[in-house]
Amino acid sequence: MMKKNENIISMNKICKSFPLEIGGAQQVLFDVSFTVSSGEFVAIMGPSGSGKSTCMNIIGALDTPTSGVYELYGKNITNMTDDELAIIRNEYIGFVFQNFNLLSKRNVLDNVMLPLMYRGMSPDERIRRSREMLRRVGLENFETYLPTQLSGGMKQRVAIARALAGEPKLILADEPTGALDSKMGNEILHFFKELNNDLGITIIMITHEFDIAQYAKRLIHIYDGRINYDGVIPKSEDALNRKTHGK
Ligand SMILES: Nc1ncnc2c1ncn2[C@@H]1O[C@H](COP(=O)(O)OP(=O)(O)OP(=O)(O)O)[C@@H](O)[C@H]1O
Ligand SMILES: [Mg+2]
Repeated sequence: MMKKNENIISMNKICKSFPLEIGGAQQVLFDVSFTVSSGEFVAIMGPSGSGKSTCMNIIGALDTPTSGVYELYGKNITNMTDDELAIIRNEYIGFVFQNFNLLSKRNVLDNVMLPLMYRGMSPDERIRRSREMLRRVGLENFETYLPTQLSGGMKQRVAIARALAGEPKLILADEPTGALDSKMGNEILHFFKELNNDLGITIIMITHEFDIAQYAKRLIHIYDGRINYDGVIPKSEDALNRKTHGK
């Protein structure tokens, strides 16, 4: 059992470089260090290209750092094989992306059920649980729709139902409201807040909008691949800008 306040993410001097086509490499993350405890709700902000998604991909074991040590749920993932990483992701993490990443030829119910295929669960149990998650996000009447027949907000709710179906301990969301209008965005964030408060699910979310970040309890600000603020949510966007020197 994971206890509350247990350290679940530990990034220690993480650096990440990508090889450049013309030779050499571009360094994107520089000595990024922070920890996250179970039950936290963290927003990550920073300008476009500052390294937020790169950082999130490492947190989610979708990518590995060039140097530094990363521990997820007490396991050093730095030298794991792709298969081992996939097992960790499937067991612990629910992903929610800006562009939803739904399978366009599969209906809503199939999309939600898919990650449960690897859980050794009976088909009946997979269907039961997926329907329960669709009910939670208010889409119980849309099971047989294809993603193309849904609005952006509905697609994002399918993606959230899919993330929740696996009963993740950790939700990683990269601009979950980026493609939504502000009303729908706020609805999604209310839902995240409930998951965090009521179920204790740890949430780490990238956003460009200070209004959205305010749903979180902690803000990490990245600028040019370095953390330049990590603390409580500042009272206003101006206050955040002062703390990050306007960067
Ligand atoms: N797979 C990759 N290969 C090469 N370069 C990459 C790769 N992924 C990211 N980069 C580079 O790393 C830098 C940071 O990208 P990243 O996607 O992390 O930024 P971001 O903060 O998420 O930006 P945005 O707010 O626009 O999503 C960019 O210069 C980008 O070109
Ligand atoms: Mg990004």
